[in-house]
Amino acid sequence: EVSLSHVHLTKEFVFSHLKKRPPNSHKGTYGRLLNLCGSVGMCGAAIMSALSALRCGTGLVTLGTVGELTIPVSVRLTESLFLPLCQNADGRISAQNLPIVLERLSKSDACLIGCGLGLDEDTVELTRGVIIKADCPMVVDADGINALAKDIDIIKKAKAPLILTPHPGEMSRLCGRSVSEIAANRMEIGAAFAKEYGVTLVLKGHNTLVFSPEGKVYINTTGNPGLSKGGSGDILAGMIASFLAQGLPADVAAACGVFLHGYAADRCAARLSQYAMLPTDILNDLAAIFAENG
Ligand code: APR
Ligand code: MG
Repeated sequence: EVSLSHVHLTKEFVFSHLKKRPPNSHKGTYGRLLNLCGSVGMCGAAIMSALSALRCGTGLVTLGTVGELTIPVSVRLTESLFLPLCQNADGRISAQNLPIVLERLSKSDACLIGCGLGLDEDTVELTRGVIIKADCPMVVDADGINALAKDIDIIKKAKAPLILTPHPGEMSRLCGRSVSEIAANRMEIGAAFAKEYGVTLVLKGHNTLVFSPEGKVYINTTGNPGLSKGGSGDILAGMIASFLAQGLPADVAAACGVFLHGYAADRCAARLSQYAMLPTDILNDLAAIFAENG
């Protein structure tokens, strides 16, 4: 039995927790984020996660991806720095990069790992090394989660706070229960997992739930099936990582990201329709929401 304290996410909750931007501030005030993502064949994940992190106000975003992608990706990411990494035979980030990645992480306020990374053994080894050795808080998404699922005890070896953002299929791989079992017991399974592993868990889908390791649960009601398109998850991961880099506590960063992602998607659907809206379109609505509530 778990006792949970429930918070229904609202606009008021979110805007009372986002950082103000005092006039006498500079880019260092708003955090340095290292985004480890992308592989040959999945460069959109790198672009979308970095763009959304930039649109949420991060001071500096550095994109660490395979060298081959750095130039094409940079055409869509004029405001990002790049850490070109050596790629393995599968076109993915190689474990050989671990020292240079850890060096950069020592100068970062947060890390996002996993969007479009791929899952070969070499990249999984890099992911494990980063998760165990990094000392800044981290968002682990997509293939970062799939890497953890191969050896779940890695989570307990992490030094820094972790936010995991699984969709139901990824959650199934993580906790070894079926998708239908998870769907029927989201509250119990999510809370037990967050507590056991000491992580913030974002269980995505219609009415996404955010669990803190201390037993708090945030319930979201924004968002719509216009988000059911590849790329929506990358946008969400970049948003949460941005708020984490800006210094919000892990559970609050996750809750704010989840609410705003859905809220922007609802505004976007009214403008462009659930059919036509694209994950990157919601960034325009996000900007309008910041402008209307700032
Ligand atoms: N209502 C509300 N929110 C929704 C809905 C819905 N009907 N459908 C999707 N969403 C939201 C989710 O809550 C989540 O925030 O959209 C986001 C989707 O995230 P992911 O499932 O991680 O999708 P994404 O990573 O963009 O693309 C799918 O995941 O399974 C892998 O390899 C697969 O490349 C694929 C990728
Ligand atoms: Mg995803």
